[in-house]
Amino acid sequence: MKLTGNTVLITGGGSGIGRALAEAFHARNNKVVITGRDADRLSAVVKANPGIEARQLDVTNAAAIKSFARQVTDELPGLNVLINNAGIMRPEDLTSEETETAEATISTNLLGPTRLTAALLPHLLTAPHAAVLTVSSGFPTPLRPRIARRPPAGTSNDMPDTIRVGP
Ligand SMILES: NC(=O)c1ccc[n+]([C@@H]2O[C@H](COP(=O)([O-])OP(=O)(O)OC[C@H]3O[C@@H](n4cnc5c(N)ncnc54)[C@H](OP(=O)(O)O)[C@@H]3O)[C@@H](O)[C@H]2O)c1
Repeated sequence: MKLTGNTVLITGGGSGIGRALAEAFHARNNKVVITGRDADRLSAVVKANPGIEARQLDVTNAAAIKSFARQVTDELPGLNVLINNAGIMRPEDLTSEETETAEATISTNLLGPTRLTAALLPHLLTAPHAAVLTVSSGFPTPLRPRIARRPPAGTSNDMPDTIRVGP
């Protein structure tokens, strides 16, 4: 993909890998918009990097994703790169009957990128040099007990690093 002159949307850009990507793209003359839930963290990135924009978005909220996609493409028609980075990695007791952690992980790490990509695709398909990138998760080891739950086919582990969608 082209590394300068893009308008790049990075989910989970308030910390960690997302923040580092945001700052690296910002330093390379890209317009950068970051999202996340924690307004204070987003503000800290904006304050440290004048020019970066931030919007609040919970990627587990399907309705919010749809209205966000409409709003961000109206306000930033040059948007051509989506980086799905927001994600959670919580320890999980596979011997427990609870499924809360698994459901939160699927909602955030799998449905979040799927819904946001789908909502932005109509716009991205018309954008020059468009790309969708997904930061996926390795499978944590060691697992307790020795049960390996393989991620289902189609999870972010199976997503290609970069999908070229534009002309
Ligand atoms: N660090 C690693 O070793 C590693 C290894 C493999 C994969 N990864 C993946 O890399 C990505 C970034 O990880 P990181 O290490 O940089 O972790 P991190 O610092 O915890 O960043 C995760 C980001 O995702 C955002 N996020 C989480 N849930 C969200 C939600 N429901 N809606 C919107 N934003 C949400 C968080 O922002 P808010 O809390 O403000 O919403 C946070 O900024 C994740 O997808 C993670 O699974 C990391």
